[in-house]
Amino acid sequence: MKIFTEQSELKKEIELLKSQGKTLGLVPTMGALHKGHLSLVQRALDENDALVVSIFVNPTQFNNPDDLVKYPRTLERDVALLKTASDDILVYAPAVEDVYEDKVESVEYDFDGLEHKMEGKFRPGHFDGVGTIVKRLFEIVTPDNAYFGEKDFQQLAIIKKMVEKHNVPVNIVPCEILREDSGLAMSSRNVRLTPEYLEASPFIYETLKASKIKFGTESAKDVMEWVESQFKNHPLLELEYFVIADINTLETIDNKKENTLYRAFVAVYADDIRLIDNLALN
Ligand code: PAF
Repeated sequence: MKIFTEQSELKKEIELLKSQGKTLGLVPTMGALHKGHLSLVQRALDENDALVVSIFVNPTQFNNPDDLVKYPRTLERDVALLKTASDDILVYAPAVEDVYEDKVESVEYDFDGLEHKMEGKFRPGHFDGVGTIVKRLFEIVTPDNAYFGEKDFQQLAIIKKMVEKHNVPVNIVPCEILREDSGLAMSSRNVRLTPEYLEASPFIYETLKASKIKFGTESAKDVMEWVESQFKNHPLLELEYFVIADINTLETIDNKKENTLYRAFVAVYADDIRLIDNLALN
C-alpha cells in the first residue's frame, strides 16, 4: 500500500505503470470507507492492472459548512480497510492545497440542465464542486476506468455528461447500491446516525420499494403524494424531496410514457443527517 499526499509523487508512480502498459482504475472517495466503497474497489481491482483510491473530503461540493466540518475523517481506518482488499493499492490522500493550490473554488459547469434538479435544487453549487474535483482527479490520475456508486445516481449522470462534453478519455463504470441488512443504503454519513435514527432509517428503502409496487398501477403524481403523506406521518424522518424521474433526463414526471425507464429518488433528514437513496421502478 503506497500513500501519496502529493500529486507530483503520485504522477511519477502512474507514469511508471503506464510505461509498463498497465491499465489503471480510479475509485474516487471522500473517505469514511465502508463495504459499499469496498465493492467498488474490488470491482476496480478485478478489471484493472493497477488501482488508485483517492480519499479527499472536497470542500467545494459542500453547500452547508456545518456538513463539511462534521463529515467523518478516518484515514487510518480507511487505509486498514483497503488493505483487506489488497496491499497493492495507490492511495491519494492530499491536503486541500495539493488539489486546489491557492484557489479553493469551483469551475462553473453546464451539465445541460441535469444540475438543476433534485440534489442540484437543494444543494446549490454542489455539482459544480463535484465536477471540479472529479475532472481534476481525472487529470491527475489519468485512469482508464473510474468507478462510481449508483446511490449518487444524479452525480453519476453529471459525471458522464462532463466526460462526454469535455472529451475526457475515461470509461465511467456505474456500480449498484450496496445496502445494510436493514435495507439502508450504505453511506459514510450512516456512522453519524444515533441508534434511534438508525432504527428508523430502513423506512426510507421500505417506502421506495412500496412506491415501486404502486407505480405499477398508479400515476407518478399519485405515488409522489402517497410518499409525501407517509413521511408526514413519520415521527423522526423529514422528507426533503421524493420524485419520480426519467433516468436519462432526470426530468420529474406526473404520468408515465411507454419505453421510458424511471427511477424514484429520495432525500431525507434524519435529525441533521441528510440521507439519499433511489430505486429503479421499471
Ligand atoms: O461520491 C463521492 O464520494 C464524492 O462526491 C466524490 C465523487 C468522491 C467527489 O468528491
